[in-house]
Amino acid sequence: MENGLSLIFKAYGTQLNILKATMKLNRSIAVLFLFLQTCCSQAQPQTAGENGKGKNILIVYLSRTNCTKVVAEMIHQKVGGKIVALELEKAYPENYRATVEQVSNELRTGFLPPLKTRIENWSQYDFIFIGFPTWAMSLPPPMQSFLHQYNFEGKTLVPFNTNGGYGLGSTIEKIKEICPKATVKEAFTVFGGKEPEGTHLTLESERGKEVKQMIYDWLEKIKLD
Ligand SMILES: Cc1cc2nc3c(=O)[nH]c(=O)nc-3n(C[C@H](O)[C@H](O)[C@H](O)COP(=O)(O)O)c2cc1C
Repeated sequence: MENGLSLIFKAYGTQLNILKATMKLNRSIAVLFLFLQTCCSQAQPQTAGENGKGKNILIVYLSRTNCTKVVAEMIHQKVGGKIVALELEKAYPENYRATVEQVSNELRTGFLPPLKTRIENWSQYDFIFIGFPTWAMSLPPPMQSFLHQYNFEGKTLVPFNTNGGYGLGSTIEKIKEICPKATVKEAFTVFGGKEPEGTHLTLESERGKEVKQMIYDWLEKIKLD
């Protein structure tokens, strides 16, 4: 009887040990699984989110009367990333006529105005949005300076523009000429305003809301993935 009982206890003890060992193994597998899951999610590139949110995005814009700035901020609100206003070492004159004259001389001679703006950690950016007004139906010289200053090989350029009613002119051709190794997405372009008449695009206006929707539709269409 005693022997019988001790045999039962022994068998029961062995079963218990097996059960404990299995539970330990299960726990180890679970820990390993959790560890691997954490590692993998950390190693993945930042591609989560709709409309490019979480991607390595840089938005660089040139704006004199804030129309392009408004568009840049609307884009930034939607896609995130770093937003930078392009600044010159020597600003253009306040006077509109004087600026038109200076710009036309710069375009004629191919002068590239030196920039105050510097972009840190350039290599981290995959998508570079560039915003500019149309100047003399051309790409403004400061934006040309910017494109000449950095290496766009393997980068995706996303142009956006405001103008005084005459469209993009030769801006996109110029971008492709300066950055032949970049992928250039379809540009967003919209009427911004007329400086001599004092009309400008604003965030709060009814038109501002319309433009915001146009931007969202464009972002949807060009797909940043
Ligand atoms: C020097 C200069 C040249 C311009 N040339 C043109 C032009 O050729 N075509 C056009 O449609 N608008 C032209 N514009 C108007 C601007 O493109 C338009 O007002 C734009 O929305 C201004 O953007 P911003 O407020 O971001 O500077 C010119 C403006 C300036 C200051």
